[in-house]
Amino acid sequence: MAISAHFDSFEDTASDTTDFLADVKSGLSAQSKSLPCKYFYDEVGSQLFDRVCYVEDYYPTRTETTIMEAYAADMAKAIGPGAKLIEYGSGASKKVRVLLDALIEPAAYVAVDISKEFLLQSAEMLAADYPALNHHALCVDFTKPFSLPEDVIASGHRAVGFFPGSTIGNFTRDDAKDFLSGCAKTLGEGGGLLIGVDLKKDKKVLNAAYNDSDGITEAFNLNLLERINRELAGTFDLGCFAHLAFYNEDEGRMEMHLESLTEQTVQVGQNSFQFRKGERIHTESSYKYTIEEFQALATSSGFSAVSVWTDDNLLFSVHFLEVS
Ligand code: AVJ
Repeated sequence: MAISAHFDSFEDTASDTTDFLADVKSGLSAQSKSLPCKYFYDEVGSQLFDRVCYVEDYYPTRTETTIMEAYAADMAKAIGPGAKLIEYGSGASKKVRVLLDALIEPAAYVAVDISKEFLLQSAEMLAADYPALNHHALCVDFTKPFSLPEDVIASGHRAVGFFPGSTIGNFTRDDAKDFLSGCAKTLGEGGGLLIGVDLKKDKKVLNAAYNDSDGITEAFNLNLLERINRELAGTFDLGCFAHLAFYNEDEGRMEMHLESLTEQTVQVGQNSFQFRKGERIHTESSYKYTIEEFQALATSSGFSAVSVWTDDNLLFSVHFLEVS
């Protein structure tokens, strides 16, 4: 069904497959508290994340853009003509423009994101700027299996996933493997995947990136509690929780937490949760990989590693994988 002059299709199944309240309840009643990081991205959170991408200390976004701009022609060549591009977690849909500009006669663009308002806004703008393409928007939780619209499957040549931003880092290694195996199935035979992966590096650089001096990352983290207050009738006092982010060397990942500054009880709807002073809610893990580690992961998940591009300082990598 066409929902605007520019769109060929729009599907919304995210609300069927995610249950915010159930996830909050189980996360906050566990022995060690945690919340799924996908809930960062309501409209406010998506906007805050967009601002994180511009802060000086947060190097991944601009570094990945630099790599994309420098090697777009090589990437387009690796992908080949007539590709159907499927963007996982399209967000503000900015980086994909560099790719779309370089691609040889792309057949379709499918934006996939969990944040409906953001997805619609950005996909709408993209559709206006690339009128020759078939545009599709899928509002789904892409961490769970989904299928491509029928007319996308039928059109063009190979399906190529685009998964920038090192969002793959939010998965544990096991979940990343399951996710990539699912991608290989969704993309099908002959499919490809262009994926941005943040690299292991000096932990000072990592810690600074998640503790920016403008406090935008802190606001992004705390918004999760505000979202619970807004949507689930929560009583979180944001002044009683502190943003905490550090590199966990043993696990090879950045961690974000919200630390309770006092002993307190918080209501979420009918439920109440106790916090000890110093108790943490683990809100995000962001795994970092060496090039070799990521290639090994891809190989064990139904892909073969074809090419990899990096910046001169080896901060970030963009891999092209093919379904094997
Ligand atoms: C969007 C998941 C790649 O892990 O670096 C930014 C999210 N968290 N600052 C990341 C994030 C804190 C980001 N990803």
